[in-house]
Amino acid sequence: GKERAENIVWHESSICRCDRQQLLQQKGCVVWITGLSGSGKSTVACALSKALFERGKLTYTLDGDNVRHGLNRDLTFKTEDRTENIRRIGEVAKLFADVGVICIASLISPYRRDRDACRSLLPEGDFVEVFMDVPLHVCESRDPKGLYKLARAGKIKGFTGIDDPYEAPVNCEVVLKYTGDDDSCSPRQMAENIISYLQNKGYLE
Ligand code: PPS
Repeated sequence: GKERAENIVWHESSICRCDRQQLLQQKGCVVWITGLSGSGKSTVACALSKALFERGKLTYTLDGDNVRHGLNRDLTFKTEDRTENIRRIGEVAKLFADVGVICIASLISPYRRDRDACRSLLPEGDFVEVFMDVPLHVCESRDPKGLYKLARAGKIKGFTGIDDPYEAPVNCEVVLKYTGDDDSCSPRQMAENIISYLQNKGYLE
């Protein structure tokens, strides 16, 4: 790793998290959507932000693919770079939640310990892990960007699910299981499942 700065001191602000959340009239949290490429993370993130917007809730989506065009453009798909990708997105998501925004993070985030590290940045309950439980063969048959085909042909090395690991969550808050049924697997319905969870936990008051 890189060297770290010394002699830095945390500066407290006079406006606290609860003051900001009161001003915004909502409670911040992080909805962390994990799953294979092609499992529908971005689609669900999009449906969720729309459904929450309709309920008057402010959200902001951090999509792995998009953040890799800016903040994380220096990162590859090597293990340590994926870890750094997840760490940075976790830190940014925490800032949004701190303001009172419902931050939706959608990235493969293949390693359990990296997701858990992001969870530990937030107050208990504020990290809502959502698992897109979709079999590899379904993701591969969708292949929206043609990347699985390239990975199978050996033209992309270290592709998640093909020749790179994906560690499914063991105890996450919401599982969106692929059943093959178009209604229960519609983006709108999956977003509603997440919303029910948030509602039960008091995040949508
Ligand atoms: S990670 O593992 O969380 O850092 O990945 P993420 O930032 O979500 O980026 C995943 C998207 O990048 C494309 N892509 C790859 N995915 C996995 N493995 C390899 N080697 C790879 N190379 C490029 C892929 O389109 C992913 O898009 P999604 O949106 O997940 O389908």
